[in-house]
Amino acid sequence: MSQGQSGVTRGATLVEWRAAISKPRAPATPRNDNKDKTFQEERRFLSASDDPNAKESLYRKRTKMRSPLWPTSGQPSSMVTNPNSNLLAKQATHEALIRAENVARAYQLGKAMIHAVNDVSLEIRAGEFVALLGSSGSGKSTLLNLLAGLDRPTSGSIQVSGRNLAALDALELARYRRDTVGMVFQSFNLLPRMTLQENVELPLRLAEVDRSERQARVQQALEHVHLGGRREHRPSELSGGEQQRGALARALVNRPSILFADEPTGNLDSANGEQILLLLKEIQASMGMTVVMVTHERPLAERFANRIVMLSDGRLVG
Ligand SMILES: Nc1ncnc2c1ncn2[C@@H]1O[C@H](COP(=O)(O)OP(=O)(O)OP(=O)(O)O)[C@@H](O)[C@H]1O
Ligand SMILES: [Mg+2]
Repeated sequence: MSQGQSGVTRGATLVEWRAAISKPRAPATPRNDNKDKTFQEERRFLSASDDPNAKESLYRKRTKMRSPLWPTSGQPSSMVTNPNSNLLAKQATHEALIRAENVARAYQLGKAMIHAVNDVSLEIRAGEFVALLGSSGSGKSTLLNLLAGLDRPTSGSIQVSGRNLAALDALELARYRRDTVGMVFQSFNLLPRMTLQENVELPLRLAEVDRSERQARVQQALEHVHLGGRREHRPSELSGGEQQRGALARALVNRPSILFADEPTGNLDSANGEQILLLLKEIQASMGMTVVMVTHERPLAERFANRIVMLSDGRLVG
């Protein structure tokens, strides 16, 4: 899904749904203060969806099965022990975790063809913190969405842990988005009528994680971002920095191996922006996570990232 796209379609995946329902431009679904009702509305949407991920999720609920990638029994409680991350880190020590080859994404707009991403080849190793820099319109968000499996390239290939994303069927791609990827959006995307705790819990509810485990994991994620004392606050009762940290907790609560962050400091003053990046760096180190972050701010990128990748007019430069 490109950033410019708005609205929720029936084929939306869980990640797209999570993103789309909270986009300021697309608050299409009516909400009310009844939290269970809100969740039921989402459940009804998902059950009406053709999305195989939603169907698998509902099937697991009916049969009381758990996510095969995140079995809850015997799962260590600490966020630092992400079995996927550790596995990926071991596998990818000598080779790229993400390998993009000659990736292009073009948009047809009337008679004009916009080459948002143009012949980009890029390798990212497990555990790296890569900053994607470039001027407005240079293709950063488009490239990030392609790597996150939210959009498909017009040409070229993207491999993650040796799997070609283009070769994944809809269910496998949805699993990749749900279990491997965490996404932080520039505009926070917290649901205004839900408390912070409920916002962070949402991905776990959609993934059918048991209630008892959900509470522990939400608590842990919130403590990780120093928001343990703000659980009952709604987004409007949080500062900008707190909302961004809440969005980070929500992206991390499913224990992703790769975190994609689109300008996570874009709406914050420099002190809060720095605080977010300090936190991100600390969490990345403790979880063994790979981070790909879009930013306009070169000084922050130079300070926190292992590597800077520059985009200009959809192409890699420098
Ligand atoms: N859905 C779309 N249809 C047509 N053109 C698009 C679409 N989405 C993005 N573009 C164009 O593709 C180019 C790259 O957009 P992208 O959002 O990736 O830029 P960006 O580097 O993230 O910019 P910013 O820093 O302003 O967020 C832009 O010229 C934009 O106008
Ligand atoms: Mg952008």
